[in-house]
Amino acid sequence: MTTHSVSSRYVDNERLIALNASHAAFRRDLAKMARVATVANFRDPAHRRSILNGWAVFKNQLEQHHSHEDRFLWPSLRRNMAGSDAAMSVLDDMDAEHAIIDPLLRSVDYAFDHHDTADLPGVLDELNTKVSHHLTHEEQDAIPMIVEAIPEKEWKKIVSGITRASMSGAPEFMPWVTEGATDGEVKRVLSMLPPPARLIYRRVWVPRYRKVSRW
Ligand SMILES: [Fe+2]
Ligand SMILES: [Fe+2]
Repeated sequence: MTTHSVSSRYVDNERLIALNASHAAFRRDLAKMARVATVANFRDPAHRRSILNGWAVFKNQLEQHHSHEDRFLWPSLRRNMAGSDAAMSVLDDMDAEHAIIDPLLRSVDYAFDHHDTADLPGVLDELNTKVSHHLTHEEQDAIPMIVEAIPEKEWKKIVSGITRASMSGAPEFMPWVTEGATDGEVKRVLSMLPPPARLIYRRVWVPRYRKVSRW
């Protein structure tokens, strides 16, 4: 797992550990989806189950990720960058791109639920294109603002808000975001957790997550 598009200036920023790791995990899953979620594989019941398992986690993580950005990051940047037309335009784009992706997730769900293999390749391809574009756009234009335009005190409040909102999802998020990551990347992501939770990650969350076949 590597981070693709974040400028080297921001790639090691402590504020971006979860965001960058999540973007890398979305790209990893999009690549798997493109390779594995084929019409032929979908016709095989065991493989279909595995594709749907992978899809369920991808969709949940993308929805959570967007919800945290919409609730905690973009409102703060809108306040702090209110005098900048360029910043408002980027944030309008972030809202618009999230709004385009939501119905695409529903379209993929529909194709999966109704075994609509005629539409499946088209909707998966469109989802891949739109999500990939959004990740890169966000990394290029919004990530610099996350680092530069939020004072530390406000950042701490944002982190505690996101932590409260996402705590119950950690058993899925942590093994998902670290799947396929290097030891160094895993260590960096685990640095977000208190030591007892790191132990639970290794002993409970990862083994439980890996019991299920995905993609
Ligand atoms: Fe993001
Ligand atoms: Fe986003």
